[in-house]
Amino acid sequence: MATSGNEPSRNDKATSASDVSLEDRYFLLIEAVQDYAIFMLDPAGHVASWNPGAQRIKGYSHGEIIGHHFSAFYTPEDIAAGKPARELEIAASDGRVEDEGWRVRRDGSRFWANVTISAVRDAAGALIGFAKVTRDMTDRTRLAELERASMVAAQVQITRENEQKRIARELHDDLGQQLTALKMSVALLEASLGAKADTTPLVQQTQTLQKEIDAMAMSLRRIASDLRPPLLDDLGLTAALEWLAEDFTKRYGIAATAHIEADEPKFNEFASTNLFRIVQEALTNVARHAKASRVRIELACSRDLVSLDIEDNGVGAMLDLPVGGASFGLLGIRERVRQLHGTVSFTSSPGEGFHIAISVPTACTR
Ligand SMILES: Nc1ncnc2c1ncn2[C@@H]1O[C@H](COP(=O)(O)OP(=O)(O)O)[C@@H](O)[C@H]1O
Ligand SMILES: [Mg+2]
Repeated sequence: MATSGNEPSRNDKATSASDVSLEDRYFLLIEAVQDYAIFMLDPAGHVASWNPGAQRIKGYSHGEIIGHHFSAFYTPEDIAAGKPARELEIAASDGRVEDEGWRVRRDGSRFWANVTISAVRDAAGALIGFAKVTRDMTDRTRLAELERASMVAAQVQITRENEQKRIARELHDDLGQQLTALKMSVALLEASLGAKADTTPLVQQTQTLQKEIDAMAMSLRRIASDLRPPLLDDLGLTAALEWLAEDFTKRYGIAATAHIEADEPKFNEFASTNLFRIVQEALTNVARHAKASRVRIELACSRDLVSLDIEDNGVGAMLDLPVGGASFGLLGIRERVRQLHGTVSFTSSPGEGFHIAISVPTACTR
């Protein structure tokens, strides 16, 4: 084992395994541990031993910390609150104390630590010090935070989809019906006016009104279907994607084609909503950024995997540039794919078009 100058070493000379005493083996074991800070405190809390894991996690070398009080590892708030002394008292009276909280490295940075302090007593029961084991939990804590954030994001998305569905239904069923009724009344008015003399200007006005009502009904249908395409619920994902491609071609004059090799029952509502929204976002990007003349949407299903590709022949983008603060489209796609336990890749370079390739386990889409 490599040891630096000021660290203790008990195996300076080459030894064979059988020469090593039990005590030395424990020493070697503790020296080998990198992921935990394992060290001893004297009964008053001064550092009495130090392992490489402790140096790695806390940043002090052996020579710098031996003899110093262990409150150096605590935050000023914890020191002011008397926490270090309290933890030793509990360890002395109960045998052991465990704590999770912020600790401070040599350079002043903080890390989230899991700490156990155990009282060490001699055969007669006299306190000879404390064994302290500290683990840096920062990565785990971050991971747990990310997991929580992503669960919240998924819940927000589901709530939003449900709300949009409700508004779309209200718009269609309630306002849509009222517009139909209004149009019928105006048509009746036109018919009764037509029967009388000198009403030409009024008849023309009722005709204009009817045209305006038609335009309103069309806007209403468009807004409702943007909120929630009725096809998605009525006919399922594949039909909705075909409609999306057709609608996109009409709206933007960019030829969109949907090639679909998948059977409908493979998609549950969560998967079809997510895959549909992904294609919608990808097409919005094509309209907004690509200057493309065509875009191809391909959905294919094998036994284990669903693959979704959206590829255009536009100007492409430099993907290694950091995505700007307000660009949530590609991030949103990533998040939706993550929720389906799938993988996504974006490939593009200037002049080469843009390609989004997604695959999702069928187990998550059924
Ligand atoms: N189909 C595409 N063609 C060219 N560039 C694209 C395409 N899709 C995305 N991009 C680039 O990637 C960036 C990030 O996209 P996105 O996250 O959707 O954000 P936004 O569309 O709001 O700019 C875009 O600003 C654009 O530069
Ligand atoms: Mg976008």
